[in-house]
Amino acid sequence: MSRLQQVTVLGATGSVGLSTLDVIARHPDRYQVFALTGFTRLRELLALCVRHSPRFAVVPEAAAARNLQEDLRAAGLATQVLVGEAGLCQVSADADVDTVVAAIVGAAGLRPTLAAVDAGKKILLANKEALVMSGALFMQAVRKSGAVLLPLDSEHNAIFQCMPGDFARGLSQVGVRRILLTASGGPFRQTPSAELDHVSPDQACAHPNWSMGRKISVDSASMMNKGLELIEACWLFDARPDQVEVVIHPQSVIHSLVDYVDGSVLAQLGNPDMRTPIANALAWPERIDSGVAPLDLFAIARLDFEAPDEQRFPCLRLARQAAEAGNSAPAMLNAANEVAVAAFLERRIRFPQIASIIEDVLAREPVVAVNDLEAVFEADTKARALAGHWLDRNAG
Ligand SMILES: NC(=O)c1ccc[n+]([C@@H]2O[C@H](COP(=O)([O-])OP(=O)(O)OC[C@H]3O[C@@H](n4cnc5c(N)ncnc54)[C@H](OP(=O)(O)O)[C@@H]3O)[C@@H](O)[C@H]2O)c1
Repeated sequence: MSRLQQVTVLGATGSVGLSTLDVIARHPDRYQVFALTGFTRLRELLALCVRHSPRFAVVPEAAAARNLQEDLRAAGLATQVLVGEAGLCQVSADADVDTVVAAIVGAAGLRPTLAAVDAGKKILLANKEALVMSGALFMQAVRKSGAVLLPLDSEHNAIFQCMPGDFARGLSQVGVRRILLTASGGPFRQTPSAELDHVSPDQACAHPNWSMGRKISVDSASMMNKGLELIEACWLFDARPDQVEVVIHPQSVIHSLVDYVDGSVLAQLGNPDMRTPIANALAWPERIDSGVAPLDLFAIARLDFEAPDEQRFPCLRLARQAAEAGNSAPAMLNAANEVAVAAFLERRIRFPQIASIIEDVLAREPVVAVNDLEAVFEADTKARALAGHWLDRNAG
């Protein structure tokens, strides 16, 4: 029998992390959990450690680590608790690890994900912000180390499944005309502009088709999620921004499509459940059971498509502009968005002000080249400071 694949789950306590552990638990003959990480939900992390007996757990600071270590000992587990970013990087790069699931939300996931890349691991990427921030450097590091990068985002995983195996030769070389990136349109797809001023964080997080963490749920509501995904698609598939078209598809059954020069359009369909892309990427190039129910086309009955409305959802336009500008622009866009979304979730700003903050930050700071990781973090820090100044001037 072949050796069990050792899997580190960064962001194990989150929505993607839990779906990953659900799939892993279905295949004890294939996978073993090497490390689990959490940030605030540490009771849940303890329960996950009891369930999966990882070799390591990682928490953000020393006092939390001492508490978790004691609880683990009391539960009879040998799991060793590590601390902070150094701990995250250690469990990503450990020589015994085969696969790293990058499911931390936001910029905090960049260094641990890059540690996995540099160590040449198989990386299942959910943490799109890491790739958006550092695209060119990230992809260079993948090529240099020989890491295997597989997308977990349902759209990018769908595109990956619809692409020919040799797509890395270049889209025009393999006959691809464009990528059609589907979007549900989120909870406010049909909400008039005037009403968007009064929507609450809970309304923004009530996604019609997907159950997700709060940050990505707000991103879906503002369409920034699709903007970040557009940038992500450009890096993963070496596409220009004008080769990626966003298509609103409210049912979230088609997860994305690839349009070929001969007129063929290949799509990947499935129920909206992250366990499908997770199982696909975990087992790639094989297929394993994910626990997802078979698609019932008769129950779905119809599939609808619309063009996105960039007037009501300016985040999509801002992201496309950042994709075209390249260099420091996507890192600035991402950082300003993270600050703005946090402020919206804390009820300091109104929903349309998320886009106002990002637009203001991008207008104030010139785009500069980013030749190393320090330059990426410099752009990130600048954008956070500018967004903070906007909040000081305008928010409650
Ligand atoms: N949810 C989806 O269906 C979905 C689909 C596609 C892509 N994604 C992407 O996957 C990523 C995770 O999304 P999610 O919905 O799973 O988010 P989530 O439920 O909020 O989970 C985020 C995870 O990151 C951890 N975390 C948060 N801040 C951290 C920090 N500063 N340092 C270290 N760990 C930190 C959280 O720990 P605690 O919970 O312990 O605080 C949690 O484990 C995002 O980049 C998102 O865009 C998600």
